Amino acid sequence: MNVLVVGGGAREHAICDAVIRSAQASLFSVMNNLNPGIEQLATDYIQQKETHSDEIVSYSIKNQIDIALIGPEAPLEVGLADELTKNGIQTCAPKQQAARIETDKEWMRRLLTNHHIPGQLHHKTFTDASEARTFIKDLNANVAIKPIGLTGGKGVRVSGDHFNGTDEAMFYVREVITKKIGGAAKVLIEEKAIGEEFTLQAFTDGTHITPLPAVQDHKRLLPDDKGPNTGGMGSYSCADGLLPFLTKQEYDQGVSILQNIISALGKENCPYIGPIYGQFILTKDGVKIIEVNARFGDPEAMNILPLLQTNFLDLCTAMLQKTLSTKDLHIERKATVCKYIVPEGYGVKSMTGEPIYINEQALRKTGATLFYASVDKKDNYILTGSSRSLAVVGKSNTLDEAEQICEKALTYITGNHLFTRHDIGTKKLIEKRIKHIKELRKQL
Ligand code: GLY
Repeated sequence: MNVLVVGGGAREHAICDAVIRSAQASLFSVMNNLNPGIEQLATDYIQQKETHSDEIVSYSIKNQIDIALIGPEAPLEVGLADELTKNGIQTCAPKQQAARIETDKEWMRRLLTNHHIPGQLHHKTFTDASEARTFIKDLNANVAIKPIGLTGGKGVRVSGDHFNGTDEAMFYVREVITKKIGGAAKVLIEEKAIGEEFTLQAFTDGTHITPLPAVQDHKRLLPDDKGPNTGGMGSYSCADGLLPFLTKQEYDQGVSILQNIISALGKENCPYIGPIYGQFILTKDGVKIIEVNARFGDPEAMNILPLLQTNFLDLCTAMLQKTLSTKDLHIERKATVCKYIVPEGYGVKSMTGEPIYINEQALRKTGATLFYASVDKKDNYILTGSSRSLAVVGKSNTLDEAEQICEKALTYITGNHLFTRHDIGTKKLIEKRIKHIKELRKQL
């Protein structure tokens, strides 16, 4: 079976790894950058912009691709899945209309309202900044300000984290509208939800969903959740599939919301096939929806794909043939901790082109897995790009052990001007999350 994976980040390296573990596959890749991990696994690859549908379709036809998988959101937004499908290539990813669940936040919120899906947040969109001011003031400036379209996870600003008070909020509102951040002269304002965020990923065939273990990502650049938002600095998951602050009942609420969204998309005549990602927040009023993504999460894919015991391509085939069943999904019951190494300045202005030295042999001996991300390979040097560079994943029976394996593995990666959030998955930070939720539960 010839399998195409589009994308050159760590998430796509993890997808490629899952494809290769399915044994019967030959892997083909389209990536912007030359990801050395994917290069090593692929039968063939091209370096190409991941949004250039025509070139990707031609490459797929030439290589008789049986199944195409799309990692990042940008190709979904331009309709790559539609173009591949039109040309007879089975694509395990949502088409453009269904991908609006991620690419158009206003549409996503409307879908939730129209289909009475629980977990909605109070919200409104504005093209006129002065109208937004009244709405923000009415919420005592306790709001999240979001561009409508894609911003690589970096466009959201939240009161108390990134700004304080109506005037500071308005500064960003005007910026989003005038600079068309996220592609539109429009802004989405939501009530600020207070709680702990968690990610639920699932496979879906458009009707059934098979949910995967919960993961907690860390969006802020700096330790203790300080600094600007990033695409995600690292993440952890637990052996029982829950999180230390999340009960089975709350996890099930998230699953039920995802199931409702899939059903609603079907009713709206845009059936969704492929992986789906719900970003939730556990608040004192229950589980709320922060955003929905039309793909695996990055870094969350690196927590979960290495745990798959079911043949990944069998799951993809079941999604395409609409025969997906939870009983076919087998997941290793282990905890994972993923930490990203990023270039210094990431989130503001990355130091690109810096060499990274990796002792892969020693790293592997720790039991950890290395996924290459936004790096380039030039003259046998691995160089930092502008985004996250490498993801290291520790896996073990307990979170503690997984964290220690991850930290040990990180010592085998060196270079100047690199940065990692070492607090991710540590006891101290996890205790803080548990305490936070305990305090919120007291307010019930
Ligand atoms: N971890 C955030 C995302 O994948 O969008």
